Amino acid sequence: MLAKRSLNWFSRLRAKTIAMVSMAIAVCFLAVSCAGGGGEAAGGSSTTVAAAGIAPDVVADYIHTVMAADRTAYTKHVINRLKKLEGKDKPDGVLDVEATESWQQNDGIPLPAQMFRLGSEIASDGSPFTYSLISEWNINDNQGIKTDFEKTAVDAINSTGEPYKEYQEVGGKKYFSALYPDKAVAEACVTCHNTHPIHLERYPDKVFEMGDVMGGIMINIPLE
Ligand code: HEC
Repeated sequence: MLAKRSLNWFSRLRAKTIAMVSMAIAVCFLAVSCAGGGGEAAGGSSTTVAAAGIAPDVVADYIHTVMAADRTAYTKHVINRLKKLEGKDKPDGVLDVEATESWQQNDGIPLPAQMFRLGSEIASDGSPFTYSLISEWNINDNQGIKTDFEKTAVDAINSTGEPYKEYQEVGGKKYFSALYPDKAVAEACVTCHNTHPIHLERYPDKVFEMGDVMGGIMINIPLE
């Protein structure tokens, strides 16, 4: 009986000692790894920069640059080479192809705004990141003003001619949104829109002139 009890006591002591020793080892380990970690952190400052990320307004600027460049390249190097643009002959055209709004029905190719929309529909499908063309004088119903935020943004670019950037919350989710003005940079922008049957019917008093803001490119970046 006594022998059994003292054995118990001994094994408890042994367990305590083992626990203390292993704790001491763990502390040493921690100290060593912390010292090593300190050295690594100094050398790995790039990790800290990557974790900080790129400001959303800079991301929006980059995305907009790519979109605007693609649209200009399509207009300059594809549309400009065609012999016809929406029923009108182009004297400098070399290809017997027409760019027309009804490209699907009439064996043509899409207009730049349609090409842009087709791309945005693919990119935005099932994604919280979206971008689109929007205007107060929209030809396409889907490209009108739909929210208070869009109204504020469109009013801002119409009056300043500068991009409008702001945070907004949609359905409990935070976004950084930027609207970049889309200006009449070519005579074709003005003539085509001013003479479009939908434009004439909806906005008979709105006559675009060169340099006018015709609408904008809205980019919505989800922040979560
Ligand atoms: C040959 C005709 C034509 C030309 C040229 C043209 N557009 Fe458009 N634009 C359209 C049509 C048609 C739409 C609607 C397309 C769609 O269904 O998405 C449109 C859409 C737009 C929209 C979106 C709002 C809306 O009306 O639905 C903006 C903004 C726009 N165009 C600006 C421009 C600018 C700026 C230029 C010149 C760089 C230009 N357009 C050149 C025919 C034209």
